[in-house]
Amino acid sequence: MTTDTFSPGRVVILGGGTAGWLAAAYFSRTLKMPNIALVESSEIGIIGVGEGTFPTIRSTLANLGISEREFLVRANATFKQGVLFNGWADGADSYFHPFNLPIGGEDEALLPHWIADDSAQRPSWADAVTVQERVIRAGLAPKLMQDPDFSGPMNYAYHFDAARFADYLRDISVAAGVERIEGTVAQVEKQADGDIASLILSDGRRVGGDFFIDCSGFRALLIGETLGASFTSCGDTLFNDRALAMQVPYPAADTPVRPYTLATAHEAGWTWDIGLTERRGVGYVYSSRHCSDDEAEATLRRYVGTQGDALTPRQLRFATGYRDQQWIGNCAAVGLSAGFFEPLESTGIMLIESALRMIGDFLVPGDRDARDAAARAFNSHMAGRFARIVNFLKLHYCITRRIDTAYWRDNADPASIPDSLRDMLAQWRTRPPSRFDFTVDLETFLPPSYHYILYGMGFHTRLAAGAARYPGARDAQQAFARVKAASPGALANLPDHRALLDHFHARP
Ligand code: FDA
Repeated sequence: MTTDTFSPGRVVILGGGTAGWLAAAYFSRTLKMPNIALVESSEIGIIGVGEGTFPTIRSTLANLGISEREFLVRANATFKQGVLFNGWADGADSYFHPFNLPIGGEDEALLPHWIADDSAQRPSWADAVTVQERVIRAGLAPKLMQDPDFSGPMNYAYHFDAARFADYLRDISVAAGVERIEGTVAQVEKQADGDIASLILSDGRRVGGDFFIDCSGFRALLIGETLGASFTSCGDTLFNDRALAMQVPYPAADTPVRPYTLATAHEAGWTWDIGLTERRGVGYVYSSRHCSDDEAEATLRRYVGTQGDALTPRQLRFATGYRDQQWIGNCAAVGLSAGFFEPLESTGIMLIESALRMIGDFLVPGDRDARDAAARAFNSHMAGRFARIVNFLKLHYCITRRIDTAYWRDNADPASIPDSLRDMLAQWRTRPPSRFDFTVDLETFLPPSYHYILYGMGFHTRLAAGAARYPGARDAQQAFARVKAASPGALANLPDHRALLDHFHARP
């Protein structure tokens, strides 16, 4: 029966991957919502990749009321302090995108003074404003053993085993009262007004609900197949559409674990290399327009070396883009069903976190007008977020100086660069980025991340207005000196990454 009032009494989540179980955990444990059910299909399974996260994950996990140790052990997790990029600018370069904000925070006051220094001794931008690159290059952890849960002197996120993480979230959600329903959805029943009424499983069971969260992965069973939300492709800008993934064992139990993601550029894409406690997750993300699957496998094998000889890579295919409407009627999409970009910079799980926070804020009992207004606000915000991430990811490619393959040449072709990014780059050639270049509310990546990539890639800004136009030269020099002075202390105090992991795994 259709009514004018709306109460999200029973929330049904379809899908038991990272998105589904994170939704269940967030609603049941963080928001203390009763009456949550989750349908998952062991026949279909989960995608099982997605091992790199963003620092927002720490507050997401802390708000679930779990301990950091339990999470680290259950998800086989390690610490991640940023991404080290090798070979993206000219093939022989190496730069770091740290999670630490620059000294002084998001303020851009230091940047023009670093740009104005054209001496040979000038450190990289990341090294000038944070000690974190020195910390990761020394293989150190972001925190001390005695630091409180989910915090430390360095900003950090985690790498984890996606299947183990979903299992862990399932256990804590079910313990908090979430009803788990195992089965495959064969049909979706709608009400006369277009809202979803129930999911009908292949064995005939019917799962009814008041609000549905579509976490069914790339298939987008509810938001796409049932409700018809259209898909905006970003494939003309971000070319990668396939990946080959391998789980590579360490040669010895005490092999050092990298406290960062290593992203190495190749002929037609890049490899991710993620260190977990017992193995590495390695994958080649590539463009099927620029290389064949056989060439991609050869590239991955060349990268992994003999450790990969006995391993068979798993292929994943994906379309890069997002749904324009991610909330329709009584259904919101979260995770791969809402959209996906390639794995660069770990945007997948971070977008799940922001969607859940927003749904949690917006999903309240009320009339249908209010619910539909919430849907419009959600759609406009999420579409804005996705669109801005396209710019940030494209920045990693389009200012390359590599011309060795068609993939890199095509990536630098202005026709493949969104207008808004092209406009910003045109200005940044003669002035540093300004916070007014960004609509910060919609930015997943704050301006400092743009600065790290831009100047890590060796982008050249000529201060057309002259250095004197930018106040604070003395303060900037003092700030740079403070970072330099803090480096020996950080290197002396922080523990080795594997030693910290051993500590967490050993403690009762
Ligand atoms: P997932 O596919 O895992 O789950 C879908 C669920 O729906 C499953 O439980 C399935 O059984 C269920 N289902 C589907 N149809 C059903 C039906 N008819 N009936 C019942 N159940 C049904 N992200 C990131 O943050 N960092 C990273 O490093 C990466 N790396 C990465 C690499 C590659 C190659 C890809 C393709 C993706 C990533 N990602 C990522 C993205 C990340 O993997 C993704 O965001 C999360 O795993 C979330 O996936 P979902 O839960 O949305 O789908």
